[in-house]
Amino acid sequence: MRVLVTGGAGYIGSHTLVPLLRAGHEVLVYDNYATSSPEALARVRQLANRDLAVVEGDIRDLALLDRTFASFRPDAVIHFAGLKAVGESHSQPLEYYAQNIAGSITLLQCMAQNGCTQIVFSSSATVYGEPDYLPYDEHHPLRPQSPYGRSKLMIETIIRDWTSANAGARAILLRYFNPVGAHPSGRIGEDPLGTPNNLMPYIAQVAIGRREALLVHGDDYDTRDGTGERDYIHVEDLARAHLAALDSLDRIDGCEAINVGTGQSATVLEMVAAFERASGRSVPYRIGPRRPGDVARMCADVAKARALMGWQAELGLDAMCSATWQWQSRNPTGYAPEVERD
Ligand code: NAD
Ligand code: WQD
Repeated sequence: MRVLVTGGAGYIGSHTLVPLLRAGHEVLVYDNYATSSPEALARVRQLANRDLAVVEGDIRDLALLDRTFASFRPDAVIHFAGLKAVGESHSQPLEYYAQNIAGSITLLQCMAQNGCTQIVFSSSATVYGEPDYLPYDEHHPLRPQSPYGRSKLMIETIIRDWTSANAGARAILLRYFNPVGAHPSGRIGEDPLGTPNNLMPYIAQVAIGRREALLVHGDDYDTRDGTGERDYIHVEDLARAHLAALDSLDRIDGCEAINVGTGQSATVLEMVAAFERASGRSVPYRIGPRRPGDVARMCADVAKARALMGWQAELGLDAMCSATWQWQSRNPTGYAPEVERD
């Protein structure tokens, strides 16, 4: 297949490119490097031992994107590009709506203009919001609590309407739970800008000595040990889910939302313990107040992913933590040279 990958230089995109290239697909990455580095793509080429085409551009640039579609003529799109920081989305809602929603509309317009009818979209479990029941299945009510989450839900709605209006159009909306981990080689991984918002990269930076201690956001939740519980999924399993989704597009009717998680959940303190085991380093922490907007527990019902795509997660917490440590210890400052340490 010829696959155009928006946001392919980012964390999840770069990990998906490796099996995509190894499976023999022809790939073009379209990315503006807003939150990523071209170095990730150089390493993807080495890991896959294949070349891939790259166009540097913004998904809101209709003219450039349209030219890219016209020359590459993709059969399908995997759409990762967008902004994803929940906290930042509260202070910059227009930026999130402009990049995520306007960018996705431009992308769908280019697909329509160029006869491309298949898309796999990076959605998020954050579209569910406060749980009525757990695990969340795909019929759970959708009540996102942030501009970021609402942008994801709006894009889901826009894509669904687009498939309804176009006979033959197919879309899979992958609702990721909490992606963590790295390629087992330690060559590519998650490289957040500045202070990490998410738990795993923060723990990794504490373990390597870049940060003093983890601040645990609350220990008074109704969970096993009082700290927040999440369904962490290895980015390698998540990468495979995208290949399964591409393979499934011609078997579905219109548009399907599919949870991508493991069906298991771990608390913050369980993650700290697992990381200490995997790295042999200690991860000091202190308990702070709850983080506004956090829910106590999230966990995926993964039955639909198995039934529709024949996909399920295979890797557990130990593999997630040791791959993250491999990446962090081999690249203490991520893709940046070490002198640029923050
Ligand atoms: P990331 O920030 O590492 O990757 C996003 C990529 O998109 C980057 O390469 C960035 O440069 C590019 N990009 C951003 N805005 C762009 C624009 N306007 N035009 C062109 N390129 C642009 O993030 P990620 O963790 O790899 O996430 C990928 C997708 O998955 C995002 O849509 C995100 O919302 C979604 N998602 C991520 C998580 C997570 O925890 N990582 C969870 C659920 C959903
Ligand atoms: C996990 C747990 C925190 C940091 C976010 C987005 C979601 C999706 C995945 C994009 C929680 C606790 C965290 C820290 C902590 N992304 N924590 N100290 O909030 O479940 O999900 O990323 O779509 O939309 O909301 O992930 O990694 O931030 O937090 O105690 O320094 O770790 O309270 O219980 P979250 P997270």
